[in-house]
Amino acid sequence: MDAAQPPVLDRTVQGLLGTAMDRPDGPLKVTGTARYAAEALPENLVTGFLVRATITKGRVIGMKAEAVEAMPGVIRVMTGHPLLRNPAQGQAHQAPEQILPKVDYFGQPVALVVAETFEQARHAAQALVVTYEEEVAEVDPNAASQVDKPKASQLDQGDLEGAMRSSPVAIDTTYTTAPHSSAPMEPHASIAEWVDGRLQLRGSYQMLKHNVAELADSLGVDEARVRIHAPYVGGGFGSKLGIAPEAVAAAHAARELGRPVRVVMARDQVFEMTMRRTETTQRMRLACDADGLMTALAHEDRVSNLPGEAFSEPTAQGTHFLYGGANRRFTHEVARIHRPCAGSVRAPGEAVGMIALECAMDELAEAADIDPVELRIRNIPDTTPEGGQPYSERALERCLREGAERFGWSQRRGMAERLEGDWWVGMGVAAAVRTNMMEESIARVTLRPDGTALCETDMTDIGTGSYAILTQIVGEMLGLPREKVEVQIGDSDLPKSSGSGGSFGAQSCGSAVFLACQGVRKHLAERMEVAPDDLTLRDGRATGGNRQVALTDLVEAPMSAEGHVKPGETEDNFSIAGYGAHFAEVGVHRDTGEVRVHRMLGVFSIGRVLNMKTATSQCHGGMIWGIGSALTEEIMHDPRDGRIVNHNLAEYHIPVSLDVPQLDAMLLEDTRDDQANPIQAKGIGELGISGAAAAVGNAIRNACGVRVRDFPATPDKIFPHLPDVT
Ligand code: MOS
Repeated sequence: MDAAQPPVLDRTVQGLLGTAMDRPDGPLKVTGTARYAAEALPENLVTGFLVRATITKGRVIGMKAEAVEAMPGVIRVMTGHPLLRNPAQGQAHQAPEQILPKVDYFGQPVALVVAETFEQARHAAQALVVTYEEEVAEVDPNAASQVDKPKASQLDQGDLEGAMRSSPVAIDTTYTTAPHSSAPMEPHASIAEWVDGRLQLRGSYQMLKHNVAELADSLGVDEARVRIHAPYVGGGFGSKLGIAPEAVAAAHAARELGRPVRVVMARDQVFEMTMRRTETTQRMRLACDADGLMTALAHEDRVSNLPGEAFSEPTAQGTHFLYGGANRRFTHEVARIHRPCAGSVRAPGEAVGMIALECAMDELAEAADIDPVELRIRNIPDTTPEGGQPYSERALERCLREGAERFGWSQRRGMAERLEGDWWVGMGVAAAVRTNMMEESIARVTLRPDGTALCETDMTDIGTGSYAILTQIVGEMLGLPREKVEVQIGDSDLPKSSGSGGSFGAQSCGSAVFLACQGVRKHLAERMEVAPDDLTLRDGRATGGNRQVALTDLVEAPMSAEGHVKPGETEDNFSIAGYGAHFAEVGVHRDTGEVRVHRMLGVFSIGRVLNMKTATSQCHGGMIWGIGSALTEEIMHDPRDGRIVNHNLAEYHIPVSLDVPQLDAMLLEDTRDDQANPIQAKGIGELGISGAAAAVGNAIRNACGVRVRDFPATPDKIFPHLPDVT
């Protein structure tokens, strides 16, 4: 970047970027005309239904396939190769493990029944008799005999025990969080069709270039022979990062039968056959001096996953750089157990790690008798406490102070001092932090002679607003109103982007689109015979060198450029993250311990805001997930066999409208991050959840004096400890 000039996006004049522009895809979605993966009807289509294992560990020794194949409409029972143990982990880029006839968890796919209709396939799948040889399985993370300690996740700095002993204030506290489901509204769904030896898969996936590689590897074909279409994705939250069993099974079946095959997961299968978030146990030790300056910080956790899975929830990810404290310890344990596969779900790491850290900070503030907002601000380090790196743009203190002001924090009372009718009322605060990641991305932008632009990349829109922000970046850079910009995404044949995941989509893919537009601007400047910096583009007209020319007159043939962005050294030289602060006010019922969130404010700093409406909406979503993990969300595993007991949306309680008050999400608008990427924007999808649940937990404590350390904070954990009121 030219140091003498402000960033390009601060000099463009179209005025489209950053506005609360409506989504271009909105009308298609609300009128039901946006086609999701399962909604196509290719000729000759047949349906496959997955069959789930009904043991936890062992092997399949028999299957009465003939009996089922004799049923009406049934075409084939398929087992073995096409059915992989798990969905692939995010960015795996290779096929997930094929372990059949071995079974590793209750609910693992063991067969696919293909029939002429969905009803016939499902009925036959339920009638299929599978016999097993069973083995004893460990399913309890606390009693597991195999526990791994990945070396890279351990840290011992200074003298933790010494600091804990010698500091005037020290706390040692343990938090647990429940396993979570990503619970996307659209279940995993694929239609596979082989056309001239090439697979065309309509799927619901987040990261197409990786998904193509995973699928090709599963099929034993070249990547060039796989094409995935995913123009609309009804939510992913991590469960659609990697290729899942329904896509692989559909692709194999379609190849074998020579007909298009559709496989849609039933809701219970989404719970069982895709990623869950692990449960966690987190021991926190924190100490500070009399002024509240932290001297010790330890975050030691245990998570779980299946044997052999590389992913483990990076629980303490944000703890490493959020607060100071010279004496530090991090231990990370992975219990190897036979519950369904654990993987990325909604802000892996911070979503649950920040619950423990930010509730423990509240405990420390209480023990030190320092206001929790103040304690946090005092402990914001100058450079990272473990590597001494500088931070890039970081407005944590502003988020805390401006949030406190806006929320009315000064009205907060002491613990259990505010009883209003039957409800104890209190306020809580928590910091938000989410690691910022950037991924390689390519995009192509073409300015056409009719004055319209086409933006092409294999990016996905998982409900987040990719269509909107890419339209805005192109419109802003090329001086075009939104109607003149066409965005084509969700097709793996287009230039390869980061895809959607880890909150890196908008900034990575957006940067590639920005660079492609820079290329087009350069061509235009040449046509205008001015330097690119002297070119002004607005409303379809180019101005420069005392001339103004309509783009339709300037562009005779399609003018194309490609943008390619890759993470560079900046990532190593700076600590780059999104920051924020959550404030919650809750009521706790004085007899039942029921918690209602009265109001909630999140203040976030994410660099340049690309679209005020979709960005705010992302924050709302995160805060709602925070309410869910604070109060209701919990996968329940049967202690005998590890199976997920509540594998439906009636019993897995995500917050519904009545659980969510009017949310106030505020974005700091003047926090460009020049280190993050060429568009100075940072991730936002996952920041809103990180810390949100802790604010609710801390508000419960302030309201009624009960400190919940086992999340979700259901009434049974609160009412036995409520204060007596007469
Ligand atoms: Mo995310 S959990 O990387 O979709």
